[in-house]
Amino acid sequence: MKSILYPESGPLSLESFYSVMGAPQRFSPDMMLKHEIQVKTITPADALTIGYQAVIEGATPGYAEEVGINPLTQTDPILSEFIPMWMEEEANHTRGLLKFLDCVIVEEVDGRQTPGLEFLDGLHQLKVVAAKENPRVNYNFDDTSKYLTSIKDFLSSSVLQTQTGQETMAAIHMTWGMANEWLTWAGYYALRKVADHPVLNKTLPLIQKDEKKHATVYGMQAEIRLQQHPSLRPLVRFLLKKYYSPVGVPVMPETYFGYVAKHLKTANAIGKLAIDEVADSKLIRLPGQKPVQEQAINRALNAYHAFAA
Ligand SMILES: [Fe+2]
Ligand SMILES: [Fe+2]
Repeated sequence: MKSILYPESGPLSLESFYSVMGAPQRFSPDMMLKHEIQVKTITPADALTIGYQAVIEGATPGYAEEVGINPLTQTDPILSEFIPMWMEEEANHTRGLLKFLDCVIVEEVDGRQTPGLEFLDGLHQLKVVAAKENPRVNYNFDDTSKYLTSIKDFLSSSVLQTQTGQETMAAIHMTWGMANEWLTWAGYYALRKVADHPVLNKTLPLIQKDEKKHATVYGMQAEIRLQQHPSLRPLVRFLLKKYYSPVGVPVMPETYFGYVAKHLKTANAIGKLAIDEVADSKLIRLPGQKPVQEQAINRALNAYHAFAA
């Protein structure tokens, strides 16, 4: 199968791949300069949205750990190189967003001006929203242990003892990863339009470039597995339809995603991008995934529509 990652001459290194994707300037939290951030205030909804993004970026190690349990992640030439780079980039995104929140001033409805992190009370408001939604889950944001434990139990079962099991889990994870990365990309696009803050206008396009690279690598990996193993296609389709939830859920509750989506709807962007880019054009291009268009990210879209109506 022809692919950028696996051309007939053999797989490219990730470095070459990234240069093909083009990233002359990399995002760094150092680009978030306090005096530039404080040039403009943001709204409470912007602050909560950026907080949401920071939380889901911060949950990356949990997903990486989950993917890393699959022995194939260590043996695949692309994934073994990609995952550490991906984690580093996502960690940079978290650091950047938190630095922004640490410096920015939130202008509340009554005119009160509060520093971003103080407004979020160390993300306390996010935790309150999350806890109301699902009191059974521990929403300590740097602790995804409960979620991970159940995944680990499943993955350490006999499923991953066989090559087929490893390929199956890779196909599922990579498809999931691709959908999540595109939704994240769409979220940043919309956030930039809504907040219209000079520092976000400068830095979010660089973060979006990272997300696009991640989505592309995941998408290609998913495509390879689904192309090589047609029998996996209905399984991945079934799991997506039944279990896919918007990026950030279950780390954050689905209604919170709806809140964020509603806020971002101001720019009339996330709906269009999530639907057109993620569902219509990206997921259905994967071998055997066309019917996913009907239901796969319906939960995300339903949450979005419920708030955006
Ligand atoms: Fe990210
Ligand atoms: Fe990403």
